[in-house]
Amino acid sequence: MAEPKISSIDGKLAEEFAVPSHVEEVKEKMATFATHHAQAGRRVVLITSGGTKVPLESRTVRFLDNFSSGRRGASSAEYFLDSGYAVIFLHRHRSLYPYTRMFLTINMLDALQFRGGEGGGEVVVDQQVLPDIGRVLKRYNEVKDGGLLLPIEFNTLSEYLHLLKAAAQALSTIGSKAMFYLAAAVSDFYIPASEMPEHKIQSSNGPLQLSMKMVPKILSPLVKDWAPQAFVTSFKLETDPSILLDRARRALDTYRHQAVVANVLDSRRGYVVVVTPETQAELVLTEEEVKKDVEIEERIVSNLTSAHSSFITGSQK
Ligand code: PMT
Repeated sequence: MAEPKISSIDGKLAEEFAVPSHVEEVKEKMATFATHHAQAGRRVVLITSGGTKVPLESRTVRFLDNFSSGRRGASSAEYFLDSGYAVIFLHRHRSLYPYTRMFLTINMLDALQFRGGEGGGEVVVDQQVLPDIGRVLKRYNEVKDGGLLLPIEFNTLSEYLHLLKAAAQALSTIGSKAMFYLAAAVSDFYIPASEMPEHKIQSSNGPLQLSMKMVPKILSPLVKDWAPQAFVTSFKLETDPSILLDRARRALDTYRHQAVVANVLDSRRGYVVVVTPETQAELVLTEEEVKKDVEIEERIVSNLTSAHSSFITGSQK
């Protein structure tokens, strides 16, 4: 099937996906952030992370969700920061967040102790419950004080699409210094605002039959129109390993961007393939490395930052 024209995707976005009221304000923030860091000699990466939510009613009680914990995006953000990038972190509200992700399974009240007597006292951290907290807090504060991380939240598919477009336009001013790392799990189906019931769908009306439209592939206008000089990495998620590489190659052929990180749902923590038009790199963690808490995102980020360096050099010739 032919790809829809970019202008028609732009039109569709405006007509069928509710525009978030703060989009212009966020766009300006992202543009200021990108220009500031590019002038300071830094590259800027836009990471998308978490799953999009597709409402079934305008006063939403029910919705469809795409699976993603946000771990890939959150841990990758830390490795990009360690590699000297400034990071715009476009993430699903309450999905995993850089640095705090490490403590999510801990009950905060179990990690604190109250010391002192009546009428006063202090609360201290129990470092047996949080053994790594000092190191992580130090790094978190360095990132915060350096203004190196700009978090932006989305909930719905509409918010995601409009904020990604705004980000792409904001980053277009820094050309090849911008990287897009599209790790979010984005819905392929939606109900247009004009066809959505306002109120809660009633079960008394019998079984629910849904008819949903195809979401336009946002990679098309992103690569060709909104940020044509940037280095763009998309992700390909499959559950059937036998079709993974073919789909990744097909995505590169269709969108003509720079890299696809191909992963299978069950093995995504220990195995991915980074596919570019010329290369194919398998990144694998051994059992030993998994035991030592090595993360595959460190390898993915190292691979892509090198590719980005070559891309910048190539685009300056
Ligand atoms: O968050 P975790 O639990 O750690 O899991 C990480 C992950 C498995 C979610 C991540 O590694 C991953 O694979 N993310 C992409 C999932 C996905 O949406 O794959 P897809 O094959 O449906 O989409 C392929 C690419 O097209 C994606 O980069 C997506 O951003 C993009 N897309 C998708 C839909 C759409 N309408 N427009 C798009 O541009």
